[in-house]
Amino acid sequence: MGNIETTLGIDLSAFWMPFSANRQFKHAPRLLVGAKDMHFTAHDGRKVLDGTAGLWCVNAGHGREKIISAAKAQLDVLDFAPTFQLGHPKAFEAAQKIAALAPEGMDHVFFSNSGSEAVDSALKIALAYHRARGEGQRTILVGRERGYHGTGFGGISVGGMTNNRKTFGNLLPRVDHLRHTWDIEHQAYSRGQPEWGAHFADELEQRIIPLHDASNIAAVIVEPVAGSTGGLVPPKGYLERLRAICDKYGILLIFDEVITGFGRLGKPFGADFFGVTPDLMSFAKGVTNGTIPMGGVVASNKVYDAFMQGPEGAIELFHGYTYSGHPVAAAAAVATIDLYREEGLFERAAAIAPYFEQALHSLKGLPNVIDIRNLGLIGVIEVAPRPGAVGARAFDVFTDCYANGLLVRPAGDTLAMSPPLIVEKSHIDEMVGKLGAALKRAA
Ligand SMILES: Cc1ncc(COP(=O)(O)O)c(C=O)c1O
Repeated sequence: MGNIETTLGIDLSAFWMPFSANRQFKHAPRLLVGAKDMHFTAHDGRKVLDGTAGLWCVNAGHGREKIISAAKAQLDVLDFAPTFQLGHPKAFEAAQKIAALAPEGMDHVFFSNSGSEAVDSALKIALAYHRARGEGQRTILVGRERGYHGTGFGGISVGGMTNNRKTFGNLLPRVDHLRHTWDIEHQAYSRGQPEWGAHFADELEQRIIPLHDASNIAAVIVEPVAGSTGGLVPPKGYLERLRAICDKYGILLIFDEVITGFGRLGKPFGADFFGVTPDLMSFAKGVTNGTIPMGGVVASNKVYDAFMQGPEGAIELFHGYTYSGHPVAAAAAVATIDLYREEGLFERAAAIAPYFEQALHSLKGLPNVIDIRNLGLIGVIEVAPRPGAVGARAFDVFTDCYANGLLVRPAGDTLAMSPPLIVEKSHIDEMVGKLGAALKRAA
């Protein structure tokens, strides 16, 4: 560890790193000191191809001048203004842009600062919606195994990532989970959406509703594509069935679009890609291209209107954050959405997705590869775990790739790729070439 500390003149000991093996990292640090377009610069000057858009957030590529200058300009004009009983123009402008991008009938935006807060806000809005309509007994929230909804107590309770939950328990008292949608026997090496598995949605009507009674269930929350637990692509017809069952029983459907939002699937949101409109959508990450923290919830008019009742002086929702709609984040969001549109980046992602799919699936047959999944610009390779060491093989592939100038994201024994939407075919070739070589070495 002496090397980096000496080279950069920094002490690594104080920062308790999130979701990281702190001691291992601090003995062999991987420090990023710069970024432009498709590449990071590592502390030793090496270029590292960003195969993951940072953490699924830098959808327009790094260091985009338009976004940076908008944020800087905003700082010069108005560094902060509250949005509790006050307002500032950029928050309204950003909300308007996001609503315009969202599916028809989803015209209202509540701001948070992260995906985790976005999820907790969506869950709270769902509970408050039923209460506002006189159905306050609807308090059960239904999530899904292998779901990831961030790290708030709400998000981990409806989530299904075991490591996130086991230390903290299930602190929302009334929660149930659908099974996840991946089945290697019937779906392995599906290109895009698996043909098999729409019936997994029926568990909602066959088990969960009879067990709890629909009159007690507030909402179902799912990621359109489960990203962080290994790119689980919904089977054809699955989301449509969830929507139909929720409609039948008056249950709200929440899509957690923190990863699938802002072009990852070649459309503005997963909802657009799948043609299924939820009642609430949580978003974050790509909204500001990762430059400034921001998240939020897009609400359907049906949900929003249910709150806009009673005396006009009443606060309709007792919820919010000091930095909801922060001026600098809002300015970055406006510039980011303009940039996506000006450069046609969502269409670009859709156009290059088939090449990405083809390249990913060329890795089939390499040692220990047991499945390959993809949709839009999400690609995941699943490797067989080493006996008694779940995740070790994928972690070795990750460090090998990094040493060779490529960033991929390990999660359990999966390796995810989610490049910026500006990715070129040559980058995809490089990603697959380096990943393939690392997989061969990771026997
Ligand atoms: C689907 C989903 N929801 C929520 C989150 C949490 O977002 P954040 O890390 O900004 O709190 C993530 C993060 O990866 C995510 O993928």
